[in-house]
Amino acid sequence: MDKKVVLITGCSSGIGLSLAVRLASDPDKAFKVYATMRNLAKQERLLECVKSLHKDTLDILQMDVTGRQSILDARDRVVEKRVDILVCNAGVGLMGPLEAQSLDSMRQIVEVNLFGTIQAIQAFLPGMKAQGRGRILVTGSTGGLQGLPFNEVYCASKFAIEGACESLAVLLQHFNIHVSLIECGPVNTDFLVNLQRAELGDSSLQQVDGLTLSLYEKYLQHCGSVFQNAAQDTDDIVKVFLEAIRSASPAFRYFTGGGVPPLIKLKVTHPDGSRYISALSKIMFSAEEQ
Ligand SMILES: NC(=O)c1ccc[n+]([C@@H]2O[C@H](COP(=O)([O-])OP(=O)(O)OC[C@H]3O[C@@H](n4cnc5c(N)ncnc54)[C@H](OP(=O)(O)O)[C@@H]3O)[C@@H](O)[C@H]2O)c1
Repeated sequence: MDKKVVLITGCSSGIGLSLAVRLASDPDKAFKVYATMRNLAKQERLLECVKSLHKDTLDILQMDVTGRQSILDARDRVVEKRVDILVCNAGVGLMGPLEAQSLDSMRQIVEVNLFGTIQAIQAFLPGMKAQGRGRILVTGSTGGLQGLPFNEVYCASKFAIEGACESLAVLLQHFNIHVSLIECGPVNTDFLVNLQRAELGDSSLQQVDGLTLSLYEKYLQHCGSVFQNAAQDTDDIVKVFLEAIRSASPAFRYFTGGGVPPLIKLKVTHPDGSRYISALSKIMFSAEEQ
């Protein structure tokens, strides 16, 4: 049987790298993986993981999801001239008090997370429609379903992805193309290191009021302990991707931690939003209220 051709964005590290390694190492050699990254100088890590064992199941291509031409050049280098499974995974974070964030940094987050994802889908969609089948998997975030203080623009970009994917999913079922969001909570990757983050003491925070800064300090502590105690490993995330890929009729949303997180349930059970806002505020800033 022909290998499924998979193209993954953002494979220099983290979830994208682990997924590329797993699929390229599939015991049944069921996949041909195009692992893309914006900076090929970073390919050593991936090559180290696959140890040159996968010449027939892995190719590494340059792709910056913010550059249309870069996406099209990568698409043109797919030998099979088709992609069966597109994984839109590339993403970046931005953390800090909103009033201290520059328009440039906010634009960059939206360029990568929203338009990068959409541009990649645009490039591969006509081919999938012509084939009459395809899979589009997107690395989503619980931050795309629930707002998180000091992550306003990141959450906005991930909420926007939810809307774009849900809209597409309704249409694309008529083309036998399945769209799935793999909704991740905290995952042990380079994400926290790579994200643009205001540090307490940065000159950009000089004009920010004291209450905001003390809440930001609380938030950073909370975030640190969540990543230390509750983050999933990329292997856990890859298992969920595999579940979606193997399913004959994949779901639209997969939650990597199992069920729907309780705070997101609160948004459904109390749609006016007040319970969610007070619950999250208590969890993150409770020391402030004592
Ligand atoms: N880690 C978490 O806690 C978490 C939670 C929920 C969702 N997610 C989502 O998971 C996805 C993967 O993140 P990760 O956790 O694996 O973090 P990561 O290790 O930082 O990986 C992010 C990847 O995206 C790439 N990237 C950034 N900008 C790009 C661009 N313009 N074009 C192409 N690639 C670009 C990075 O490449 P460079 O090395 O060149 O920067 C890197 O390969 C993201 O969409 C993120 O929002 C992560």
